[in-house]
Amino acid sequence: MADQYARPSDAAALSAVSPLRWEEPPEGPVIVLLDQRRLPAEEVELVCTDVPALVDAIQTLAVRGAPLLGVAGAYGVALAAVRGFDVEEAAEMLARARPTAVNLAYGVARVRDAHRAAVRKGGGDGRAAAAAALAEARAVHREDAEASARMAEHGVALLEELLPGGGYRILTHCNTGALVSGGQGTAFAVAGALHGAGRLRRLWVDETRPLLQGARLTAYEAARAGMAYTVLTDSAAGSLFAAGEVDAVLVGADRIAADGSVANKVGSYPLAVLARYHHIPFVVVAPSTTVDLGSEGGADIEVEQRPGHEVTEIPVPPQAAGAGTGAGVPVAPLGAQAYNPAFDITPPELMTAIVTENGVVSPVTKAGLAELCDRSRSG
Ligand code: MRU
Repeated sequence: MADQYARPSDAAALSAVSPLRWEEPPEGPVIVLLDQRRLPAEEVELVCTDVPALVDAIQTLAVRGAPLLGVAGAYGVALAAVRGFDVEEAAEMLARARPTAVNLAYGVARVRDAHRAAVRKGGGDGRAAAAAALAEARAVHREDAEASARMAEHGVALLEELLPGGGYRILTHCNTGALVSGGQGTAFAVAGALHGAGRLRRLWVDETRPLLQGARLTAYEAARAGMAYTVLTDSAAGSLFAAGEVDAVLVGADRIAADGSVANKVGSYPLAVLARYHHIPFVVVAPSTTVDLGSEGGADIEVEQRPGHEVTEIPVPPQAAGAGTGAGVPVAPLGAQAYNPAFDITPPELMTAIVTENGVVSPVTKAGLAELCDRSRSG
């Protein structure tokens, strides 16, 4: 269950954005989410006491973004274990909640496997297995924060190498900051590190239709961080490049195939094409948990198709953007058909580099990516 527990957030607690946390009130453990459907108009928390509520929050984008989906999936399995629900069933429901961001399946599988191993070892001791599941979820959360910090370091070093001595004008798409991570995020973490060093001249923020993750969420994060930022319509990016106003494009990823093809928020691929035409670096920043060596190439990645009303209506926060309610303002005739893929695929040849917590692969090759992933597996 969720909604009846929605409550205004504590403003002080939100001074550092915390998109998800585990809490243990006397009534039993819960997952507390900052409801991203309602940002930036309202900072409201959503408390999930069971897995169906969390699945609904994932599907309606109350909680979203690849790394955070991994953390949410991990805690979701732990919630099932600690509250005595069927862990295997919970894991299946969670892993299926959204298809593209591989981090979700990764986080779910890690905690499910830890639970299975503890059940085997403890001869069916449910409490010990639940404790093991929760410990693993906390580890997924912590590792994501650590990866975020390392990606920021590698990303800044890469920019310094590509564009020495600069103050940078960075264009970004969708939302990749603390709202999607256990730490400071992916692409946005690099911009944040530049800002911290006094080297971010401007963050250009694509609005990111249809659900406006850029205008609603990245602008919210940029404003809170005190960055110089400007929101633009997605279709204005071309003229911005042509005017020489962009030094580099930084985006995140929802799944990276073995050949380096990147699934990210729809609109990323056209940016990569534009960047190549204008000879501007296009850099993907993502943790190694986003790499799926089981997908050979972009064609193997399932791209989530979302409801048409997200296109035929403009979401109006706080009316639950993307919640499937059709609560936005209609901008197309009633019954208009809509094409609404949530992601697109950028081929590796259009990228300057992929930055992970293990380092940078540039140019992006299958062998280079595999080598970076090996570094995670070998600890
Ligand atoms: O549909 P969303 O909002 O979950 O999509 C998120 C993105 O596409 C992000 O760019 C991606 O997850 C990369 S980094 C967080």
